Amino acid sequence: MKTRKVYIKTFGCQMNEHDSERMLGIFCSKGFFEVEEPKDADVIVFNTCAIRQKAEHKFFSSLGRVKHLKRKNPNLKIIVAGCIAQLRGEKIFNFAPYVDYVIGPDNINYLTEILNGKISNKVLISENPEIAKINLPVLRKNLVKAWVNIIYGCNNFCSYCIVPYTRGRERSRPSESIINEIKILAEQGYKEVTLLGQNVNSYRDGDIDFPELLKRINEIEGIERIRFITSHPKDLSKKLINTMMSCEKICEHIHLPLQAGSDKILKLMNRKYTYEEYLEKIMWLRQLIPNISITSDIIVGFPQETDEDFNKTIDALKEIQFDGIFAFKFSSRPGTAAAKLDGHLPEEVKAFRLAEVLKLQDEITEIKNKFLEGSIQEILIEGKDEEGFTIGRTRTNKVVKIIKDLAPGKIIKVKIIKGHRHSLEGEII
Ligand code: SAH
Ligand code: SF4
Ligand code: F3S
Repeated sequence: MKTRKVYIKTFGCQMNEHDSERMLGIFCSKGFFEVEEPKDADVIVFNTCAIRQKAEHKFFSSLGRVKHLKRKNPNLKIIVAGCIAQLRGEKIFNFAPYVDYVIGPDNINYLTEILNGKISNKVLISENPEIAKINLPVLRKNLVKAWVNIIYGCNNFCSYCIVPYTRGRERSRPSESIINEIKILAEQGYKEVTLLGQNVNSYRDGDIDFPELLKRINEIEGIERIRFITSHPKDLSKKLINTMMSCEKICEHIHLPLQAGSDKILKLMNRKYTYEEYLEKIMWLRQLIPNISITSDIIVGFPQETDEDFNKTIDALKEIQFDGIFAFKFSSRPGTAAAKLDGHLPEEVKAFRLAEVLKLQDEITEIKNKFLEGSIQEILIEGKDEEGFTIGRTRTNKVVKIIKDLAPGKIIKVKIIKGHRHSLEGEII
């Protein structure tokens, strides 16, 4: 039998990256192998992201570029998966009638039936709470660190965010299945796991909350490092911080999206914390875990954001001194509460504010990285970069380049000899 080939292009967050690994797992179990170019494929999958308009544009132009392949090869199947699939459903056919299937994130398990030719339905976007309980095959490309889902969906409805509409309601995966998966990963030689969810802090399986889950994962032999994303500030508890302190495998890093420095904007965003409350949690973290690195997400140009509000974000960045941030211009998403607000801002204002934020944070990051010069750091070797440098990561999630060849998976101590804006240079000691 002819082997079949699949091409997968992934947009968006780690959750999507991991869903692609799960889809690849299904494809491989059906005898497919992955190809690098859409033109070589029998099946093309776009795993899409709807978080901002730009992400949607990127996908639709990629989709347009494969249209001619279908004309050449009528047997080619094109599948649209991910958050745009869920959001736009069959409307995708209006734009691109050459698409064969539209599959939302909760329905990727049906890929097996599609590949077996057992499903006639072309749009699979209905609610599927079972997805949190199904163990799908996974094909991971990284052999050192692995993503592991612990919670699906989101109930927070931040006013700007599309995720609650694309990923559905919050559902925790049974702890037993998480622990089993990580035990198997450890046996396979994985050293690091990153627990995934839109709001990992609200994980719950009976008596097992997020700190308790972390404690149990910390016991698994072979796993050396535990990370998690994302933590919602409103649910970050002292109990979690104490657990981070007491479990030696949990890395000294937290991604804690602030979004804005103005209480007026935070309220309009429905974030459910004030700047003061956020700051208090930063103080707890820094008091109890002295070397912790803290990163964040910032949105600029939210509707009704005045210069004064924006300056509060600038002041917050100066006051908190994050190790790094992701910053975005507000993008109006269909059906969200923020889309309906008055006072949307012109593109130029958003672009100006974004540039300001990025410039300031670059300066802060550079100073922080310079400060690490001369320090000794434990790094986990991940592989090589395009220039051939060996790349490792500190427990605080900073990238370190070293000149020596080292096998991925090794944990070594290095001395930081140079701190750059976006990376560190290290030397083995
Ligand atoms: N669940 C995570 C992150 C989800 S999306 C959390 O709550 O932190 C990642 C980031 O994208 C968000 O933190 C936010 O900063 C940004 N984002 C989400 N929707 C956006 C929008 N409509 N416009 C601009 N940025 C957005
Ligand atoms: Fe979106 Fe807020 Fe949920 Fe994060 S917590 S996914 S920003 S609604
Ligand atoms: Fe994008 Fe969906 Fe992730 S909208 S950021 S792929 S949850």
